[in-house]
Amino acid sequence: MTDVALLHADEQAPLEGVIKGEVLRMYQEVAEHPEGEFHFYHGRQAAEMFGYEPEWLDRAPPGAVASFAGVGNPHLRSRLQAGEVVLDLGSGAGLDSIIAGWQVGSKGRVIGVDLNPTMCRKAEAHAAASGVRMACHEGRMEDIPLPNASVDVVISNGVINLSFRKRTVIRELFRVLKPGGRLSITDIVSAKQLSQSVVNDPKLWAS
Ligand SMILES: C[S@@+](CC[C@H](N)C(=O)[O-])C[C@H]1O[C@@H](n2cnc3c(N)ncnc32)[C@H](O)[C@@H]1O
Repeated sequence: MTDVALLHADEQAPLEGVIKGEVLRMYQEVAEHPEGEFHFYHGRQAAEMFGYEPEWLDRAPPGAVASFAGVGNPHLRSRLQAGEVVLDLGSGAGLDSIIAGWQVGSKGRVIGVDLNPTMCRKAEAHAAASGVRMACHEGRMEDIPLPNASVDVVISNGVINLSFRKRTVIRELFRVLKPGGRLSITDIVSAKQLSQSVVNDPKLWAS
């Protein structure tokens, strides 16, 4: 890390708890009131914009589609095979887990991890209604509640940008992946340094 990055990390340290609270609040709202106004794309409109197959969106439970809050389409490059074990990091209301579950079939399985217990329970219910084997663990991407070398593929959609500790998250992903495993991640990156007023705003961080 550079000195400047360290200085900012120190300045931002007290914000970590505030941001975690805002992230929990924001995605609780998406889970419970997806019809509300959010300053990010969500629901079917977002999924169609990112190239999700209309057939998937018709077949998935309406609640999983309505609370979808991804930023891209991790299924375009995941090349999932029948029988694989998939981790959906930040699984939200479960749409990505369900689509992955359809691809890995009954011999495979999907493990969700999400900070928000409401999201986790919704994802499991939506997956069960879709005929997908999925268990969601309430937990943090910075400390993934899975053993070393336990998954074939990690998918994640719009989640890592929410972390204060992105290097730790990447280390965790490589820890839980089996040798030769794969990552298919869609996320937000900034091509330029954002101003501190943007970086330090919990609402902007959480969205
Ligand atoms: C942009 S949404 C993910 C969308 C999801 N992939 C979908 O299909 O709708 C972000 C998700 O990440 C979860 N999340 C945020 N911070 C987290 C953390 N530190 N560890 C695990 N999950 C986290 C949120 O609770 C939320 O469900």
